[in-house]
Amino acid sequence: MSKVIALAGKGGVGKTTVGSLVLRYLSKNGLGPVLAVDADPNSNLGETLGIDVTKTVGDIREDFMKDPQGVPSGMDKIVYLEMLMNQVVIERKEFDLLVMGRQEGQGCYCMVNNILNRFTDDLEKNYKFLLVDNEAGMEHLSRRTSGKVDMLLLVSDYALRGLRAVGRIYEMLDSLKLSVSKVGLVVNRAPMELGKTFLDEAARIGVEVLCTLPNDDRLLDFDMERKSLLELPDDSDAVVAIDGLMEKIFKIINVK
Ligand SMILES: Nc1ncnc2c1ncn2[C@@H]1O[C@H](COP(=O)(O)OP(=O)(O)O)[C@@H](O)[C@H]1O
Ligand SMILES: [Mg+2]
Repeated sequence: MSKVIALAGKGGVGKTTVGSLVLRYLSKNGLGPVLAVDADPNSNLGETLGIDVTKTVGDIREDFMKDPQGVPSGMDKIVYLEMLMNQVVIERKEFDLLVMGRQEGQGCYCMVNNILNRFTDDLEKNYKFLLVDNEAGMEHLSRRTSGKVDMLLLVSDYALRGLRAVGRIYEMLDSLKLSVSKVGLVVNRAPMELGKTFLDEAARIGVEVLCTLPNDDRLLDFDMERKSLLELPDDSDAVVAIDGLMEKIFKIINVK
């Protein structure tokens, strides 16, 4: 069964950055096959990985709902939707990428959602690792039939507001149809040492700090130059931090 590593946190705290560096680690160490799922409607995982995303699962759903009769004649609609879904999976040497895209509008999406969800469930079975970059509500995760998450990384910046968002997600976990085995906190743009107020708040929420990521100007340079974070040098501060995080995670979730 694939190991599922998921990311959640407030917008702008660094989920996609951390996710990209997790993918960098998995691919550099030949730990594939890996499926990256961009489940944030404000998707940008493709961008940080230097991948041009032209179509998302959301686009397929909307196109189909706009014109349900548009299925080529003689073709079953399930076969048709699955064919379109296959085209949305972007295959790369290092990993595959599935972008969920916009969330559904109004109307009855049950039938099409069922077909698309079943496709993603089946697809996910082919991978050793799944990396899911989420929006705060983690809707994609709770829709999966297995609902299994091995490691949920809650990302916060070094601010109480980010941490409170983490607290809200943590509290919400029980109400989701999810079975989350382990939860850890990643503090992004953090100083060398975390202050007492911040640590006390993390302890109150009940999440362990697994990793602190320093501010790394190279990340901004890469962003400005539209370069893939996969190309970051091994000695960049952020890469070193995430490599350390991955070693910790592998111990926690028992990856040999
Ligand atoms: N440790 C860091 N040092 C410098 N810049 C960072 C760092 N982490 C994230 N950033 C920058 O902050 C912005 C938001 O990060 P991003 O990962 O897209 O957040 P999220 O996915 O949570 O919305 C990006 O432009 C990214 O390059
Ligand atoms: Mg993001």
